[in-house]
Amino acid sequence: MRRPLVAGNWKMNGSRSANQALMHDVAAQVAALDSVDVAVCPPFVYLEQVSSLVGSAIALGAQDLSDQDEGAHTGEVSGAMLKDLGCQYVIVGHSERRTLYGEDDAFTARKFAAARRHGLKPILCVGELLEEREQDITEKVVARQLDAVLDLEGVEAFRDAVVAYEPVWAIGTGRTATPDQAQAVHAFIRERLAGHDASVAAGVQILYGGSVKADNAVELFNQADIDGGLIGGASLKAADFLAICKAAG
Ligand code: G3H
Repeated sequence: MRRPLVAGNWKMNGSRSANQALMHDVAAQVAALDSVDVAVCPPFVYLEQVSSLVGSAIALGAQDLSDQDEGAHTGEVSGAMLKDLGCQYVIVGHSERRTLYGEDDAFTARKFAAARRHGLKPILCVGELLEEREQDITEKVVARQLDAVLDLEGVEAFRDAVVAYEPVWAIGTGRTATPDQAQAVHAFIRERLAGHDASVAAGVQILYGGSVKADNAVELFNQADIDGGLIGGASLKAADFLAICKAAG
């Protein structure tokens, strides 16, 4: 049985006071939920502050990491630093990194490897652009993104990783994939991993991300291969995030 996971990706939002207020409202109530794992991924600069606010029920994650381990890489943050601050998870290959900052499949795979070298659980994001869905090449795109990591790290790496399917056209747009559309791609991802190792595929958590809200979460999370969500905008509002966590649990 896979345990559901809800991870909040704050993206480039927050302030010391806003973080404090948000976590004050969220932490105690998440502690009362025992059938869902919950993580929050603040910007790097707030990781230390938020680590002191999450309590024991919420895990800390980062939104990105360097593919390098140390040295002359101005502006970068290493997996070792994230581990040092108490992170358990790190998002890798978010579509905003891929599309806005030109990070390709091979670079994403190296970041995935860096996360594992430092004992962090990567949340590998995959998903197609709107034009790719319209060209009916969603599976081809997702397979290419997955294979880049499988080729570098092997399927066993997915015993300690999470996959997030995020159709790019659904991110921050209010346009959610239907539960059937999302389920179909989640099943495809699981089958692709099963082609390498059935037990890894059966155990890996596959999250859906893209305009998940309190009012659509239950239907999405009820799908057989959807094990929770990677939540952007709605993770910044305590009531919405809590409702989504409850929907998964
Ligand atoms: O990482 C989170 C996703 O990009 C989803 O963002 O919930 O604001 O659409 P969103």
